Amino acid sequence: MNYTEGMLREGALKGKTILITGGGTGLGRSMGEYFSLLGANLVITSRRLEVLEKTAKEMSEASENPVLPLACDVREYDQVERTIAAAKEKFGKIDVLLNNAAGNFVSPTERLSHRAFDTVVDIVLKGSYNFTLAMGKDWIEAKQPGVVMNIVTTYAWTGSGYVVPSACAKAGVLAMTRSLAVEWAKYGIRLNAIAPGPFPTEGAWSRLMPGNLKKKYDPAKKVPIGRVGEHQELANLAAYLVSDFSAYVNGEVITIDGGEWLKGAGEFNMLEAIPEELWDAMEMARKKESSKLKMMWAYFKGMRKLKI
Ligand code: HXC
Ligand code: NAP
Repeated sequence: MNYTEGMLREGALKGKTILITGGGTGLGRSMGEYFSLLGANLVITSRRLEVLEKTAKEMSEASENPVLPLACDVREYDQVERTIAAAKEKFGKIDVLLNNAAGNFVSPTERLSHRAFDTVVDIVLKGSYNFTLAMGKDWIEAKQPGVVMNIVTTYAWTGSGYVVPSACAKAGVLAMTRSLAVEWAKYGIRLNAIAPGPFPTEGAWSRLMPGNLKKKYDPAKKVPIGRVGEHQELANLAAYLVSDFSAYVNGEVITIDGGEWLKGAGEFNMLEAIPEELWDAMEMARKKESSKLKMMWAYFKGMRKLKI
């Protein structure tokens, strides 16, 4: 058994309806595929209906469970409400909301127009609170429990240059996760977040490493474990967090990045670049130095005994 295999038992999500924003591509799709295999009813949403329809067909053929594709721009609250209503009409209820949709690109911040800044913040932060608010109101009114899972990034707490709108927005999503985890616990609503490190997807790679950047920067080199993430290992974590097995996990953000952000944070982690031979040489010099000192100290003590 290893991390490229599914982890939860068959039928672990049977009877649950899970709505995934940005569920037609990338990580949203991979998590959805696994949820569907575990027995969940799925609702996948994003702006491009043709992408969603193709994904939904492939997913339900593989799992033999229903997948409903619905076009919805997360920035528009009325579309969000209509999407929730359409999903409930099909499945009766929604149990889990996975806020996964995102927009991002790299740029020096001073080159951004205010519209560019708005675009990313609106998709990531407004999109997540639009869906969370609409879904939360619905669950509370129906006296029904629910689970919200938000996809953030590790720079939600470290910050990062060149993706500043995304960093601001993901930090907001993390604050919402922790705040509502406490406020809405009394309604039986649980909120958690996952902070993935680099996981190859067409959407992220094309926007975060455009042109030659892909050749210049190998994301695996920043990861202590020495590789990028496998979609299945993220799907395993996500499936656990949306399932009832994680009923006592609330308000948490779980990092899955092979140690990437800590490598950047640790004051002396750059000493990894020092080869073994250099450590050997430094150790020898230190030992020589200390034996020289010991000899001098013995000589000094001897002289004192002789009262010289
Ligand atoms: C600077 C840019 C830009 C860029 C767009 N804009 N791309 N500015 N650099 N590369 C500006 C435009 O000029 C415009 O401003 C404004 O942003 C809106 O652009 P539109 O193209 O009209 O927006 P829209 O069609 O809504 O598309 C949104 C998008 C696009 C974010 C720009 O890339 C998209 O659809 N992305 C969705 C998927 C995605 O981004 N996936 C990656 C997630 S990865 P003006 O002033 O000209 O009107 C991720 C990983 C995080 O989040 C962590 C990794 C470790
Ligand atoms: P992706 O494939 O580009 O996924 C983004 C999805 O969001 C797309 O399906 C897109 O579909 C949808 N979307 C964008 N704008 C939308 C809008 N206004 N309304 C509704 N849906 C919208 O990229 P990904 O890598 O899988 O990213 C998924 C999540 O993981 C994001 O939250 C991202 O920040 C996070 N993440 C990814 C990585 C990584 O290394 N890949 C690392 C850390 C975090 P449409 O274009 O059809 O709308």
